[in-house]
Amino acid sequence: MSQKYIQPINLFEYEALAQERLSPIAWSYYSSGALDQITLQENRKAFNRYRLLPKMLVDVGQRDCSVNILGNIHPSPVLIAPMAFQRLANSKGELATAKAAAQAGTTMILSTLSTQSIEEVSNVGCNRWFQLYIHKDRTITYNLIERAKSAGYSALVVTVDAPILGRREADSRNRFSLPQGMDLANFRNKLPSSANNSALFDYFVDQIDPCLSWHDIEHFQSLTDLPILLKGILRVDDAQRALEIGVKGIIVSNHGGRQLDGAIASLVALPRIAQAVGQDMTVLFDGGIRRGSDIFKALALGAKAVLVGRPILWGLSVNGSDGVSHVLEILQRELDETQALTGCPRIEDINSEFLEYFTS
Ligand code: FNR
Ligand code: LAC
Repeated sequence: MSQKYIQPINLFEYEALAQERLSPIAWSYYSSGALDQITLQENRKAFNRYRLLPKMLVDVGQRDCSVNILGNIHPSPVLIAPMAFQRLANSKGELATAKAAAQAGTTMILSTLSTQSIEEVSNVGCNRWFQLYIHKDRTITYNLIERAKSAGYSALVVTVDAPILGRREADSRNRFSLPQGMDLANFRNKLPSSANNSALFDYFVDQIDPCLSWHDIEHFQSLTDLPILLKGILRVDDAQRALEIGVKGIIVSNHGGRQLDGAIASLVALPRIAQAVGQDMTVLFDGGIRRGSDIFKALALGAKAVLVGRPILWGLSVNGSDGVSHVLEILQRELDETQALTGCPRIEDINSEFLEYFTS
C-alpha cells in the first residue's frame, strides 16, 4: 500500500479513492447506471426524503444489531450483493470478498459471472449464496445449481430483472470486456470481445434467456432443495406471486439502477411490498445503501436486511479484503450509532414510526 494512504472514514471516501485506483474502463463498469442514470440517482435521493424521528430517554446502553436470515444469525443486517468480475478491483477478486464476509460473519452472494469459480470461493468458508443467471442452454444452469449445492452454497438467488442487460452507455463506448487473463471462471470461458458494444451486453443477448417466466422458477424449485430468492422485484403483484409459488424470499431491487432506467427507486417500492408479503417471506432490499442511517431507513420500511453493492467493490479496489472488512465495519458502526441516537437498541425496535416523509 502506498505511504500516502490515509484510511477513509466513510464510504464516500472509499468511492473517491477507488476511482483514482481503477482503470477508467473498470471504474465505468462498476459505477454506471443504465442510460440517463435517473434510477441510479433516484436510489440515493429516496433516502433523503425520509428524516428520522428519534425517541428520547430510551435506555440504549446495550445495543444489538444482529438478525436471523434464513436460519443464520448475522451480526448485522448487511449482506454482500452479487457482483460480477471482482478481479477487476483486486487480483484476489471474489476470494478477498469472501474472506471479508467470513470475518464479518455475513453472507456473500457469488455472481454467476464471477472471475473465481464456485469451488474456489467455497474454500474460504463464509456463509454463501449463489446468484443465478439463466442461460438459454439449460444444461448450463442445471449444472450451476448442482455445483452450488455440492460446494456448500446455502441458497439460490435468481436474478429476474435482466432478460437483457441494461444499456450502460460508457460501457458501449469503451467496448467493455475483460482484460487478458481474466475469464468467466465458472465456465472457464473468455468473454468474447465485441466490435462496437459492451462485450457483456452482447454476451447477454447471446447466452442469457429472455424467455424466463414463473414456470421456470417453479421448475427450479422442483430441482433443488436449496431455498430460492428472487432478486429484482419492484411490484406488489410480483411479490405476491413469488409468495404463492413458495419462493423463500425476495430482494427488492432495481439492480443498482443498471437495468431499466426510469424504474422507481427501490426504497420507494419497499414499503408496499413489505406490507403485502413481509410477514410471510424474507424481504431483503438493495440500492443506494451508503450510510448506517440508510440501513435503518430500509429496515424501518420493512426490509429484514440489506445488500450492499458498489461500496464493497470500492473497499476491494482500495485495500483488498481489509478494505471490504473496513467498509462493512463502517456500516455496522454507523447503524449502531443511529440505533443509539434514535432510541432503538434492538433491530426489532426499528419501525416506520421513526421516519418522517418529505415530499419536496
Ligand atoms: C451488479 N449487480 C449484479 N446483480 C446480479 O444479480 N448479478 C450480477 O452479476 C451483478 N453484477 C453487478 C456488477 C456491478 C459492477 C454492480 C455495481 C452491480 C447488482 C447488485 O447485486 C446490486 O443489486 C446493486 O449493486 C445494489 O445497488 P448499490 O448498493 O450498488 O447501490
Ligand atoms: C451487471 C450484471 C452482470 O449489472 O448483473 O453488470
